[in-house]
Amino acid sequence: MLALPQRLVIGQPPNDGTPRFPQALRSHGDTCAARPHAYGESRRYARVKLVEPGGRPLRAEELPKDRNLIFHYPYASTPCFLLNLGRPVKPAARLKTAENRDYEWHGGVGPNRSIVAYSAICAHQLAYPTRDISFISYRAETSARNKLAHVIHCCAEHSQYDPADGGRVVAGPAPQPLAAILLEHDPAGDELYAVGTLGGEMFNQFFAKYQFKLAMEQGGGARQAVNGTATVSQLENYCKQQVKC
Ligand code: FES
Repeated sequence: MLALPQRLVIGQPPNDGTPRFPQALRSHGDTCAARPHAYGESRRYARVKLVEPGGRPLRAEELPKDRNLIFHYPYASTPCFLLNLGRPVKPAARLKTAENRDYEWHGGVGPNRSIVAYSAICAHQLAYPTRDISFISYRAETSARNKLAHVIHCCAEHSQYDPADGGRVVAGPAPQPLAAILLEHDPAGDELYAVGTLGGEMFNQFFAKYQFKLAMEQGGGARQAVNGTATVSQLENYCKQQVKC
């Protein structure tokens, strides 16, 4: 059964006694990305530790620069990109969902504030990385069809997103930024946690569009909420074929 997230309205505490999001984030570690601001659009899910395929906690300082890393959060079938952009990203970005709702993203985490995460479900027509093929990935370099470097590029219809600017759409037909995955960095252990989302989620549309495919692949587990840990893999190890354009 789908575990419904807690929708947070900044300025009003949740009615279950849970601390409001900024306080909840500050209670763990000293750095946190994409802290929700007064513009809302953030949702808290389980606080999940990011780990390597062998189960060892992922260390922020070990994240390779400009590599596509993938994990699933907040549901077992919803993929996300974890990126070390290798440079401090913008400290804040004001963005809008397709429904014209404002929100504010607050940059990267980690020692250099260069680590960001986004839903890997394209905000246009929901292309996403599967085990067989991925049309969407981060590209540090330009190419014949990729005039912009350092973007997340979806080759389906060439939507491009800037991961250093909150996932803002910089080209193509996508109607809104990629949803950001809220991260925490615990400096004591140099560990990373996913704690929620910010921006326009596409999960309901994703589950509806791929209902049959997900059921065939994962049975009823596709909508299982991720708890405890999430395994981070290199995209080339997760996916047989990456479409480059
Ligand atoms: S699905 Fe990504 S650009 Fe259309």
